[in-house]
Amino acid sequence: MKDLILPIAIVLGTAVLISISYSSIEVKGRPSVTACNGECYDDFVVADKERQALLSAQQATATPAELGSKTYTTVCLACHGDKGQGVVGPALAGRDTGYLLTALAAYKNGETRGNQSALMWAQSAALSQSDMDNVAAYIVTF
Ligand code: HEC
Repeated sequence: MKDLILPIAIVLGTAVLISISYSSIEVKGRPSVTACNGECYDDFVVADKERQALLSAQQATATPAELGSKTYTTVCLACHGDKGQGVVGPALAGRDTGYLLTALAAYKNGETRGNQSALMWAQSAALSQSDMDNVAAYIVTF
């Protein structure tokens, strides 16, 4: 029994240390995940509802090109360039809406257009028809 005291003490001590450090884990630049409950959480829910309402009000008044610019900068920009000048993917600047939408629809249908079409299949699969309309509306502004 005596032989067990030290191992048990070590295990318990480690468990206590781990639970203390986990309960106070903080990620730099982020609010504590354990700090907001009760009243704080209720306030958050209210604030979040207001934020959502504001966001949908903004979306309702945003033009297709404004909506498309979001998709473009987050998804397409890396491969097609900030001004549609082309990087990994071909240049899109100067293409008209019909050309862009036909190409996107073809990729969404899994069609092969060029020898790197596979790169666009995954991209277009994630886009709805209105996403494509919006992003094309943005690309023609280049
Ligand atoms: C991983 C890189 C990558 C991303 C991200 C990407 N593309 Fe592409 N895109 C390509 C490549 C490569 C091609 C050429 C494909 C081929 O050979 O058919 C292409 C082709 C196209 C074409 C046809 C161009 C032409 O002249 O035939 C359009 C339109 C297009 N992309 C739009 C988009 C839009 C819109 C997005 C964002 C939703 C996007 N792409 C995201 C790489 C990418």
